[in-house]
Amino acid sequence: MTDVPFIAPDTPDALPVHALTADQTQAFLDERGGAVAAWAGVQAFKGQAGRVLVVPGADGRPERALFGLGDGTDPMVWGWLGARLPAGDWRIALPPAGADPTLILTAFGLGTYQFTRYRTKEPLGARLVPPPGADVATAARIVAGVSFGRDLVNAPPNDMGPDALEAAALAVAADTGARVEVIRGADLISQNYPLIHAVGKASAEDPRLVILRGGRAGGPKVALVGKGVTFDSGGRNIKPGSSMALMKKDMGGAACVLTLFRLLSEAGLDAELTAYVSIVENAISGPAMRPGDIYPTRKGLTVEIDNTDAEGRLILADALTRASEDGNELVIDMATLTGAARVALGPDLPPFYTGDETLAGQILAASAATGEPVWRMPLWSPYRDDLDSPVADMKNSGSAFAGSVTAALFLQRFVDAPSWVHFDVFCWTPKDRAGRPQGGDVHAVRLLERMLRDRYGVTG
Ligand code: BES
Ligand code: MN
Ligand code: ZN
Repeated sequence: MTDVPFIAPDTPDALPVHALTADQTQAFLDERGGAVAAWAGVQAFKGQAGRVLVVPGADGRPERALFGLGDGTDPMVWGWLGARLPAGDWRIALPPAGADPTLILTAFGLGTYQFTRYRTKEPLGARLVPPPGADVATAARIVAGVSFGRDLVNAPPNDMGPDALEAAALAVAADTGARVEVIRGADLISQNYPLIHAVGKASAEDPRLVILRGGRAGGPKVALVGKGVTFDSGGRNIKPGSSMALMKKDMGGAACVLTLFRLLSEAGLDAELTAYVSIVENAISGPAMRPGDIYPTRKGLTVEIDNTDAEGRLILADALTRASEDGNELVIDMATLTGAARVALGPDLPPFYTGDETLAGQILAASAATGEPVWRMPLWSPYRDDLDSPVADMKNSGSAFAGSVTAALFLQRFVDAPSWVHFDVFCWTPKDRAGRPQGGDVHAVRLLERMLRDRYGVTG
């Protein structure tokens, strides 16, 4: 595995990293004494979470490093190590008992991510000898997958429009041997996806539904449904500049779904896996939908456009209907659906919604195992009447209250499957976090990869 950029071969050249919780640090330094203790004192190294202190040798070159684990509770803290160690090969002198070595290696790799497509930048260049017991192939697979997803989100909207996002989906299909169905432009009308068409018809690049089919044919059917708005101007209900600035990331749900599809295909998930990716640009031009427009839906309900900026739920609705028709037993949708989710929980904690208690438990267990946080929020049915319209079966946005909840309730109307979960993901890291450098990200992907592998297993 020497071809993985963040993994070092197991040779004696790798320099030691002493990983220390805040509680362990003083005793370690007292016992060690000498230059290491003096240097740590001068630099006020106290085992602070994520702190990397390189200790130089007599020749001025790094001899070892100290790494702070803080209170020792964050399994992702190792991400800081990948981001902050100088270039070179390193080994963890004594990996903490009880820590998952695969997760240590994965977090380290995730921390080394950089988006370099548009600027020349020296790669960070730190590599880690896999800690004993680490599943190196799994760590490498997860890091490569997440990096692929981050690249999709980080790509600028002029290079990641509907054509390019479709091409990215087709590349995933080619890599994984998936079968592909694409319904594009006017075909969305003739094949009855009116909402995907309505949202995307104002763009120079056609709206489309891209469907990838993989996994084991005949296995339990699992659907991944993604919001792929390559740029969200808000439409005629145009966003102010400050809100529009980041809207290249509005295809984050599609990036999550494509990443998951790739990871699960590589793992050989023992289920029939279908990705339904709704791809549009929410643009402004003559044909753009208007507030007050009423559209039919694949499901047969009519929807009044209350706000053209509530477009994500529209393109998901037709895709969710299709996923339900296809007989999927589990439907998972992922979307950068509301600003309200971020107001409620901030950028690092995506809410999820499901009425399936067993599934919720599986998700939370996988969240704990992967160090990827999510928070369950309620499908609070009394708020359903927020979406009542005087002229249509429903409207696409409600009151100013509980925006993430009412968006989930909107989606729920279009799902007819034994089990469904919706993730309102943010897909952006405003400031560096452990294992998550500032910029685009895919959320809840590592935990869903784990959850689905645990739930369905993998083929031999
Ligand atoms: N893509 C946005 C949601 C969004 C905004 C996600 C900011 C992350 C950060 C979505 O299409 C949208 O505009 N939602 C509106 C809905 C409203 C008009 C009912 C929102 O959240 O304000
Ligand atoms: Mn919008
Ligand atoms: Zn949007």
